[in-house]
Amino acid sequence: MSGIFKADTDNIKRAGAIINGGGLVAFPTETVYGLGANVYDRHAVAAIFAVKGRPTFNPLISHISIPEMLSEYAAADSRALFLAKKFWPGPLTFVLPRVEDEPSLDLVCAGLNTITVRCPNHPVALALINAAGVPIAAPSANRSQSISPTTAAAVLESLGESVDMILDGGRCEVGVESTILDLTTNKAVLLRAGGVTREELEAALNEPVYLSDGNPDKPTSPGQLLKHYAPSKKFRINVIEPAADELFIAFGAGYGNAQMNLSPAGDLREAAANLFAFMREADKNPNYAKIAMAPIPSEGVGLAINDRIRRASR
Ligand code: TXA
Ligand code: MG
Repeated sequence: MSGIFKADTDNIKRAGAIINGGGLVAFPTETVYGLGANVYDRHAVAAIFAVKGRPTFNPLISHISIPEMLSEYAAADSRALFLAKKFWPGPLTFVLPRVEDEPSLDLVCAGLNTITVRCPNHPVALALINAAGVPIAAPSANRSQSISPTTAAAVLESLGESVDMILDGGRCEVGVESTILDLTTNKAVLLRAGGVTREELEAALNEPVYLSDGNPDKPTSPGQLLKHYAPSKKFRINVIEPAADELFIAFGAGYGNAQMNLSPAGDLREAAANLFAFMREADKNPNYAKIAMAPIPSEGVGLAINDRIRRASR
């Protein structure tokens, strides 16, 4: 099944079931259409990156339907709680420290220690999150490097049949993406200008809101800004012949000697979904002092995988 469906009660219920089953649903928010998946399903989250053609794993926004749920995922300080009360549901997204080391959220958070959360102000988005019963990870529902869609037709034009269902809720009212505010330090930093203005935030907080240096549409690379997950063990990449003390993580066929395989079939999407989880597992394995990984082709999602493992290797 794919294509555009009217966002009525029945179709929202079906869309919730698709999200639960690991599928992708495009849905309207007040800002732009989002391409949604269950935040806890790393295969579905990996499919988002593949469908968008995103060159690297970028952290995704987790959408919640009840503002009070923020504290379940994020270490929300008084500033975040106050702003959430004032502007949610609405076009304001917070970057905050993660509450706990929940491995199933690693891909959504792109291996960072932070989580990015927002409660959208759109009845269809809220009903969909409730129908799914889980927060929904969603970037804008367009191919990477193109303009965010504000109608169901624009989603179909950009992503075609690769989305399981496009819920049509009409035109998005805000039409530009949400404001992204980094509250991970005691300085509030605007990473992306959006529906809620800097002036509104400064007035509410009664303190300055700093601008991130660089292009507002392309915030300071999270990879430079924040610490990525890296194994504590010595980790080599592009390895064909692992040493005896190395746990070997292979990719593709022909590795009878490997303790783990990101994708025996050589499927990069599957490998992307498994990557962070496998690295954590290998790091915990008491039988090997070091980790080695086979070469991963640098095409499609493989570029993102190589970007991440290069940062983690030493
Ligand atoms: O209005 C919106 O925010 C829409 C709707 C669907 O909610 N979503 C959206 O998501 O625009 P996306 O993925 O297209 O843009 C989110 C931006 C990305 O550029 C990402 O790099 C940045 O937010 N971002 C997310 N988490 C971050 C983090 N922890 N640190 C720095 N930047 C982050
Ligand atoms: Mg986008």
